[in-house]
Amino acid sequence: MNTWRIRRAERRDLGDILVIENQQFPEPWSRAMMLEEITNVENRRYSVAEENGIIIGYLGLMFVMKDELHINSIGTRQGHEGRGVATSLLDEAWAQVRRSGVTRATLEVAVSNTRALALYYRYGFAPVGVRKNYYQQTHEDALILWADIAPLDAASSPDELDAP
Ligand SMILES: CC(C)(COP(=O)(O)OP(=O)(O)OC[C@H]1O[C@@H](n2cnc3c(N)ncnc32)[C@H](O)[C@@H]1OP(=O)(O)O)[C@@H](O)C(=O)NCCC(=O)NCCS
Repeated sequence: MNTWRIRRAERRDLGDILVIENQQFPEPWSRAMMLEEITNVENRRYSVAEENGIIIGYLGLMFVMKDELHINSIGTRQGHEGRGVATSLLDEAWAQVRRSGVTRATLEVAVSNTRALALYYRYGFAPVGVRKNYYQQTHEDALILWADIAPLDAASSPDELDAP
């Protein structure tokens, strides 16, 4: 059983999320950008994994259309990788978005990011194209991944019905 809980991100999580962002990404989002993301309830859904009062992972989704989402970001705090944190964030998000009619997901990932690719492949993502020179710092190409998300019969899962 996990020793953390998944919940929606709040403004007070910004500092911890930025710690992870700065640890894990060569081109981290700024404080202002991240604050805007977390507080955008129109078409974003940010969630965090909290363990003993510390945020050990976060996931940021953007709803592109009613039935389509983009994974903006996912990161696990240094020292907590390989514990299933990212998997639990995706599991929780998928369970929610399937109920709200999302059927497709997309993202970009660096071609060399084998850890993230392995995670995404487990969720049915597959490469559909390449964005050349996508990352400004590393000049690395990004793979464009797509996944179909199987619809869920809302009646079959009567627990929390929390719209994105
Ligand atoms: C990619 C990333 C988000 C994965 O996060 P994570 O929390 O380590 O992922 P998980 O633990 O859920 O899954 C990773 C592995 O741990 C394994 N795992 C899951 N639960 C586990 C557990 N309880 N104990 C040990 N291993 C476990 C999984 O089987 C998985 O194995 P894999 O290496 O074959 O994929 C993380 O490495 C990260 O933050 N990377 C930098 C940022 C990044 O690249 N983000 C993606 C940008 S597109």
